[in-house]
Amino acid sequence: MSDTEPTGIAVLGAADIAWRRTIPALLGCPRLRLVAVASRTPDKARAFADRFGCEAVTGYERLLARDDIAAVYIPLPNALHEAWAEAALRAGKHVLVEKSLTVSTAAAQHLARLARERGLAFMENFAFLHHPQHQRVRDLVAEGALGTPRVLTASFGIPRADPALIRYSVPLAGGALRETGCYPLRAAQLFLGDGLDVLGARLGYDEDGGCDMSGSVLLADDTGLTAQCDFGLDHAYRNTYALWGSEGRVEVDWAFTPPPGRPTLLRLRRGEHTEDITVPAADQFLRAVTAFAEACADPAARAPHAADAVRQATVLATVLDRAGAPAPARPEPAGTRRSHVPG
Ligand SMILES: NC(=O)c1ccc[n+]([C@@H]2O[C@H](COP(=O)([O-])OP(=O)(O)OC[C@H]3O[C@@H](n4cnc5c(N)ncnc54)[C@H](OP(=O)(O)O)[C@@H]3O)[C@@H](O)[C@H]2O)c1
Repeated sequence: MSDTEPTGIAVLGAADIAWRRTIPALLGCPRLRLVAVASRTPDKARAFADRFGCEAVTGYERLLARDDIAAVYIPLPNALHEAWAEAALRAGKHVLVEKSLTVSTAAAQHLARLARERGLAFMENFAFLHHPQHQRVRDLVAEGALGTPRVLTASFGIPRADPALIRYSVPLAGGALRETGCYPLRAAQLFLGDGLDVLGARLGYDEDGGCDMSGSVLLADDTGLTAQCDFGLDHAYRNTYALWGSEGRVEVDWAFTPPPGRPTLLRLRRGEHTEDITVPAADQFLRAVTAFAEACADPAARAPHAADAVRQATVLATVLDRAGAPAPARPEPAGTRRSHVPG
């Protein structure tokens, strides 16, 4: 493949997020070429193929066996991410995998190592990171607009929906932490960096005590900057963060799911003065898949994505530990994990 030739990519699973957001973004990225969508069910694969003008494949393994595909996007239920990411890397494919990849540091390290050894890109799809509004916040911090940052508060909650959705399934590793909590916790890493510690965590469970439906986590870095992250699956819709410093505060509404066609607004408050800062509209999914395409084409662009995935897995594992999560939600100890590709 030449540097200018687009990377052939395929999708494992006819998922809602692929239909609504990711495949339209893949089609809009000149550095990627959508080859196929694989489903366990021929009809679902066909519906995707018809809409997006690509091939329909029945069965994920059949797709991985093809040598006209260099990269895969994995929007499967969370419980299947590790196994299929490993299968794809072993088949020599670059991997873009949906959040949450895993709650096991050992598993994330294993996948990152596999990708490195095989010279492949490996990225967890946190699309919001690629929206320019967060860089604008970082610029405000660097310019001193907030003084010394003291506290980050970040929230992502969504209302209850159809109970059959995978987000409520314990066996498929749904739950508030992996579905929504992963976002404010990832945002905390933007501002608290590598040295953050999870000071305390609470998860609330559904009536059966199985699926975590809410959570709150307190984090801190070694300078004393703290982050309070709140999340849930039984909440009025809210996705926002605010960074509060010694001289000002900036608030970001639509922090994690800004609509692609609309400018976003940052509100900067300093004393009596309030300033609204407009950030031009941006399609964060298009920017995320473009970053992935760059990592496919350029070995030098790969390491940060793999390191981010490992750090995120460690934060989620630590939250589960601090919250005293019951056995099904805990990561398996390293070495007991079976390398099993579900059928
Ligand atoms: N980045 C984001 O903004 C974002 C937003 C929403 C969700 N997500 C993540 O994306 C992933 C998919 O979420 P979604 O809401 O799109 O889910 P979904 O519509 O239920 O899609 C999941 C797909 O996985 C496949 N699958 C394989 N084994 C399955 C099983 N045992 N049960 C159910 N489905 C199975 C199915 O495809 P086939 O039947 O075609 O094989 C199904 O369509 C999750 O990891 C979620 O956390 C990310």
